[in-house]
Amino acid sequence: MVRPSCVVAAASIFSAAAGLDLSVNDEASVKQAAAQIAKGLYFYHNPSSTAGDFNQPQPWFWWLSGNGWNGLLDYMVYTNDTTYQSDLLSALSENVGPKYDFVPTAQFNWEANDDQAYWVYNALTAMEYDFPSLACEASPDGGCLNSWQAIGTNAFNLFVSRWNSDSFTCNGGLKWQYRKDANGYTYKNSVTNGGFFQVAARLARYTGNQTFADWATKIWDWSTAVGLVSADFHVYDGTGDDHNCTEINHDEWSYNIGTYLHGAANMYAATEGDTKTTWESRVQGLVKTAKSTFFGPSTDAQNIMYEQKCEKSSSCTTDQTSFKSSLSRWMGKTTVLVPSVSDSIMELLHASAKGAAASCSGYENSTCGQKWTTGSFDGQSDFGVELSALEVVQSLLVKSAPALEVAHPA
Ligand SMILES: *[C@@H]1O[C@H](CO)[C@@H](O)[C@H](O)[C@H]1NC(C)=O
Ligand SMILES: *[C@@H]1O[C@H](CO)[C@@H](O)[C@H](O)[C@H]1NC(C)=O
Ligand SMILES: *[C@@H]1O[C@H](CO)[C@@H](O)[C@H](O)[C@H]1NC(C)=O
Ligand SMILES: *[C@@H]1O[C@H](CO)[C@@H](O)[C@H](O)[C@H]1NC(C)=O
Repeated sequence: MVRPSCVVAAASIFSAAAGLDLSVNDEASVKQAAAQIAKGLYFYHNPSSTAGDFNQPQPWFWWLSGNGWNGLLDYMVYTNDTTYQSDLLSALSENVGPKYDFVPTAQFNWEANDDQAYWVYNALTAMEYDFPSLACEASPDGGCLNSWQAIGTNAFNLFVSRWNSDSFTCNGGLKWQYRKDANGYTYKNSVTNGGFFQVAARLARYTGNQTFADWATKIWDWSTAVGLVSADFHVYDGTGDDHNCTEINHDEWSYNIGTYLHGAANMYAATEGDTKTTWESRVQGLVKTAKSTFFGPSTDAQNIMYEQKCEKSSSCTTDQTSFKSSLSRWMGKTTVLVPSVSDSIMELLHASAKGAAASCSGYENSTCGQKWTTGSFDGQSDFGVELSALEVVQSLLVKSAPALEVAHPA
């Protein structure tokens, strides 16, 4: 078809001011764009920090560093570019802690359950993709105390014990904070319970061990019973012990629904028969609600992801700018696990990745912007912004990534 010449002219004017080149159906183009954004993200890495931290404003955002490594781990798996591998392994071994569960002594005054979960996701991803291990600490049974699976299981067991000791109120639920003197000790929220749910579900799929599946089901059922997850699959921010979990904070953030979505997708993959069908309809419901809530701030940007609570008003905080990284990552991974939602998710990721790449035109060094809907850099950049752009772009590679492993008998 011959295009009218005015359209061609408009398109070329636009590309003169454009961000990164990205052809969403061309693997080489996606890899190249992802490599460029990963480089921009790594500019935040603090090379003098043995703890593998990324530079962020104080107070310390340890969980964000854990989240950043998740992005770079997927980047390495999806592209075979091993640039960040040895730094990643040092960061994980530095932070895994004396009991191999991501409770490092150095974070004692800061760490909450959700922070821990964000580091644990690294171990689970490494387990699922057979990523090189940490230097083995031999266990009596001939395995490694710090294998990726052992780390995931240790954290799971810790979450179980904390849930059990928290069950005097609300009939269950994991608290946001696990230290009694921490601000927010009474809050039982979605990023925490969704995180525990996701950890249990991923271990269930990988190992086939019913204990994990039972816990995932129990956490889901609790989350719906108290109303953190509604009947129409909205995921609200949290509730608390103060009123026995009868009052809900109805704020909706993209990472919360993403956290539950990926857990539900793993349960679909881990189960059979009617149970599988039930999980599939939950996945479908979560995708539908994610679409109606976090995509399409305007009719001309219908399929583009945005952080609806804060993005339009440019008031997202250091944490909040990163949330789209989680929704992007876990929507992408869900396409591999649940074929029936693959096309609808991919349509959203394509449009969003195009928008993100167009925003990567900041400061003449391809710094990415926060708003993916404007077609250009919006002047807002930070670690979470750059990570979100990386995740949405590289999620287009998930279909050609290696297959997810299941546990091999020892
Ligand atoms: C890009 O330029 C900005 C402004 O000079 C600077 O703050 C930022 O660190 C640069 N980023 C990279 C990846 O070079
Ligand atoms: C990575 O390398 C392996 C083995 O060399 C190959 O089988 C695989 O297709 C490559 N993956 C990607 C995403 O390029
Ligand atoms: C708190 O709520 C749970 C259900 O979530 C209920 O079983 C329990 O009886 C309630 N406790 C009090 C003291 O109201
Ligand atoms: C399943 O996992 C639980 C929790 O880690 C463990 O206690 C149990 O021994 C496992 N069961 C089997 C059959 O491996």
